[in-house]
Amino acid sequence: MKVLIACEYSGRVRDAFTKLGHDATSCDLLDTDTPGKHYKGDVLDIINDGWDLMIAHPPCTHLAVSGARWFKEKAKEQEEALEFVRVLLNAPIERIALENPISVISSKIRKPDQIIQPWQFGHGETKATCLWLKNLPKLVPTNIVDGREAKVHKMPPSPDRWKLRSTTYQGIADAMAQQWGVL
Ligand SMILES: C[S@@+](CC[C@H](N)C(=O)[O-])C[C@H]1O[C@@H](n2cnc3c(N)ncnc32)[C@H](O)[C@@H]1O
Repeated sequence: MKVLIACEYSGRVRDAFTKLGHDATSCDLLDTDTPGKHYKGDVLDIINDGWDLMIAHPPCTHLAVSGARWFKEKAKEQEEALEFVRVLLNAPIERIALENPISVISSKIRKPDQIIQPWQFGHGETKATCLWLKNLPKLVPTNIVDGREAKVHKMPPSPDRWKLRSTTYQGIADAMAQQWGVL
């Protein structure tokens, strides 16, 4: 399967698919953190290149409800971010999953198909993650564990805090590849 992981620098989902024998490419404006097939640049450059499946992690900076106090001053940025999400959701790709935290996508575009938590996939943490799905089944939890800590909110300030907060959990990356790579 030819798989595009849009807006991914970590390589987590890309490598999970690659390990299962798929032709997976990650794409980000940034370099990839781990060696692998990666397009550094705008995902819109390659979105029409004949993918079977796209998993997209667009930036949530102007969309997440946790930043709602800034929405008034950032109306233009929010509209641009929403337009990017619309373009990704409407891409000419048979199967699409788009991931974001609890965000205005729900009210401005449509409600998510599923909300998952890291503790359903082997990580004892809470971080509600919404999935908008096209022609894909909901992800089935793979390893429900104890622990309901909101670790990401408690991370101390550091230059790479945003990266640590936004890197896809390994258990979720593995579940995507195992469950969506066999369709
Ligand atoms: C919230 S992060 C997602 C990180 C991802 N979960 C991971 O594990 O790598 C959003 C990413 O989207 C990238 N991005 C923003 N606009 C983009 C574009 N037009 N094309 C490709 N990547 C883009 C940013 O550079 C950022 O790394």
